[in-house]
Amino acid sequence: MSILVTGGAGYIGSHTVVELLNNNVEVIIIDDFSNSKPEVLEKIKQITKKDFKFYRMDYGNAEELKKVFEENPSIEGVMNFAGYKAVGESVQKPLEYYTNNISGTLTLLNTMKKYNVKKFVFSSSATVYGEENDIPYVETMKTGSTTNPYGTTKVFIERILQDLYKSDTTWNIAILRYFNPIGAHESGLIGEEPQGIPNNLMPYIVRVASGELKELSVFGNDYPTPDGTGVRDYLHVVDLAKGHVKALEKLNKDQQGLHIYNLGTGRGYSVLEIVHTFEKVTGKKVQYKIVDRREGDIAIAYADTKKSHEELGWIAEKNLEDMCKDSWNYIEKSQKK
Ligand code: UD1
Repeated sequence: MSILVTGGAGYIGSHTVVELLNNNVEVIIIDDFSNSKPEVLEKIKQITKKDFKFYRMDYGNAEELKKVFEENPSIEGVMNFAGYKAVGESVQKPLEYYTNNISGTLTLLNTMKKYNVKKFVFSSSATVYGEENDIPYVETMKTGSTTNPYGTTKVFIERILQDLYKSDTTWNIAILRYFNPIGAHESGLIGEEPQGIPNNLMPYIVRVASGELKELSVFGNDYPTPDGTGVRDYLHVVDLAKGHVKALEKLNKDQQGLHIYNLGTGRGYSVLEIVHTFEKVTGKKVQYKIVDRREGDIAIAYADTKKSHEELGWIAEKNLEDMCKDSWNYIEKSQKK
């Protein structure tokens, strides 16, 4: 029995593949390297000392996808990491985002249905909680007031999955709402590698610390938070990856259902807390300046983790120092190459 992982060479996909292989789950990866590099596959093998099948292809290509299912009758479930995820870019290129994220997922689901594979783990985001909910975010809250096409694709796909499950309760689906994953595998062999200038906080910080970028712009210090800067629920990507293994175990046990889980630590840190912890742990200076708020940002976001804790038996174990240390370790190692 094997799990098909789309986007398995990407940041969260690659860390999840490592955890799946470590748990003796057989894996088949699909990736088109649109936002990742082929070397990652070798690194995964180096870390796990295990092998897997790989297909270089767009997961939204129905013909090629059909071939993958034909050639691998062992596929019993799918984890979908192949979405585009840059908020700013999604505003510039909405059609590309709707096509890749939504049409891609639909092609995948249609193909799964055809081959009677109904176990599906979907990468969603805390962004679906929008701007109107109170913190902490609970899975039962109303979703949908997104501020950009990227977020809207997550909301739409969640709705599609709910409708699908309503129509046929033999589907077995987990929707995982990620908070802010940072960090990297402790080996320093795999990590986050955004193309161009990073949008997210930690990738920007490590590039300032390494001298690649001059200074961090802190987007606003007049939020109603203890130091005025935005507060988010950062979690270590390896903890996040382990959450996927737990979700898969839950699906294996229940056989059918649709479950939604927050994956976060349940506590928030401000931008300046991140900067200062990073400086303390790495001994590197992070130059920053305070600038205006970024459009679409909210003051505080963090998860209610009760459901994922109780139903999955999952809890984020690594702390902020681990996250900063491992983010930096990955950059240092990749620069030495
Ligand atoms: C963003 C997306 C979210 C997506 C997530 C992926 C928005 C509004 N939300 O979340 O949909 O799922 O990335 O990881 O874009 N910050 C700075 N300077 C920077 C970058 C960020 O001060 O150069 C601050 C932000 O204002 C925020 C915090 O750092 O308070 C985290 O920002 P970021 O890493 O971009 O994540 P989110 O905005 O939470």
